[in-house]
Amino acid sequence: MVRINEIALRRDLIVVEDCAQSIGATVAGSPAGSFGHAAAFSFYPTKNVGAFGDGGMIVAKDPAIAARARRIRMYGEEKRYEAVEEGMNSRLDELQAALVAWGMERIDAWNARRNEIAMRYKESIKNSAVTLPTQVQDGREGVWHLFVVRVAERTRFIEHLKKEGVGSSIHYPAPVFEQSAYSFLNEDGSTLPITKEVVSKVVSLPLFPELTDKEVGLVVDAVNSYSQTVE
Ligand SMILES: Cc1ncc(COP(=O)(O)O)c(C=O)c1O
Repeated sequence: MVRINEIALRRDLIVVEDCAQSIGATVAGSPAGSFGHAAAFSFYPTKNVGAFGDGGMIVAKDPAIAARARRIRMYGEEKRYEAVEEGMNSRLDELQAALVAWGMERIDAWNARRNEIAMRYKESIKNSAVTLPTQVQDGREGVWHLFVVRVAERTRFIEHLKKEGVGSSIHYPAPVFEQSAYSFLNEDGSTLPITKEVVSKVVSLPLFPELTDKEVGLVVDAVNSYSQTVE
């Protein structure tokens, strides 16, 4: 049993897994989405399986949770035009569903290609100014969604990549506690030292199944040719 389930059991809590980026990942052979009472997957276009627009999926072992999720997605209706609780319109339309179903048949191959690219980055990027991501082993088979490196002088690094023709992104430029929407948390980050430390350094390198080996090589060369400012 994963640790969070033990905690939940002791305290009579429900576990909802956020599987937005982990479709296809496993822990001790069991897939992400199978540990909690329910799990949510994202089909946002850039996710490992993406729709044309927004979309997602809830899975649940408990039929009561599944039935409630189905109700809420459709105005809270138990039967057509009989709303028994407040709900919303959150249906996945047929076109998105068709694209996602097509993606589901290909996800293993796409994840394998993402893994191949990530492994090549890990083996070939050799630059002391660039810290590579690490993976927890321990029976876990993750899937790569982003390949996030850490660099002290991030702006210079991004500019360098750009000059070399390599795009990059920042996931994410500001932590939740700094968003004005969450000012009510009264959090200054002192309880989140790791978040504070990494937020100014993270940079995501290109990682998607369609990248060619040649393009992966260009990314590696661009990262390896970056030099930090000499202080
Ligand atoms: C870990 C995680 N959870 C949830 C979400 C939100 O997904 P959606 O935009 O489909 O609601 C994201 C989106 O980036 C995510 O990365």
